[in-house]
Amino acid sequence: MFKAVIFDLDGVITDTAHLHFLAWQSVASEIGIPIDEAFNAGLKGISRMDSLARILRHGGMEEAFSQKEREQLAQAKNALYVESLKGLTRDSLLPGIAQLLTEIRANKVRIGLASVSLNAPTILQALGIASAFDFCADASRIQLSKPHPDIFLAACAGLGVTPEQTIGIEDAQAGIEAINAAGMLSVGIGGELSGAGLTLSSTYELSWPRLSDFWQAMRGQN
Ligand code: G6P
Ligand code: MG
Repeated sequence: MFKAVIFDLDGVITDTAHLHFLAWQSVASEIGIPIDEAFNAGLKGISRMDSLARILRHGGMEEAFSQKEREQLAQAKNALYVESLKGLTRDSLLPGIAQLLTEIRANKVRIGLASVSLNAPTILQALGIASAFDFCADASRIQLSKPHPDIFLAACAGLGVTPEQTIGIEDAQAGIEAINAAGMLSVGIGGELSGAGLTLSSTYELSWPRLSDFWQAMRGQN
């Protein structure tokens, strides 16, 4: 049986991806770069500064801003995003997540978080589930964001498990690649994710039996 389940946050535990989009859209439009939801899909799982770099590239403005100006743009985006987080409550958990966390705990399997969001601790508190996690990887210590495996490897190390004993759950292509690169089994939420060991259309389909069957099929009795 697997020893741990490691969750992404945005788009798996709660739907903050849309809030990230609205904040980036506001900042990008101020500097004359229109972005839409389709472009935003490529920012999922990408760190704040890397997201800004992609937006500037998208608008052909890679060279237009100094490092200091980039930091100011990122800060402006974060201020808008943090303001929008004030509306989060336990009702903001995506379907099936509260039940799944309870089931995993009941089966004595450890629970970790691998989000590159520096706002992750605030969000877990607002959702009322901070105590459900045995270990949350510290995004500020991660040099290479997803699709590099570093944040998942840090979560495994903090939980005291090997990647081979662990299932990761992600909604982003970069996240699935990070889980696979770490040597974990990957579960993808939502369509259009390539390389996921198991793909589910929504968190509603996540459950302990689903994860157990998946593990059994992929790793047998190990
Ligand atoms: C997650 C989201 C990204 C976001 C990143 C950093 O990975 O999917 O869209 O850019 O976290 O979030 P932060 O809250 O630190 O700006
Ligand atoms: Mg995500």
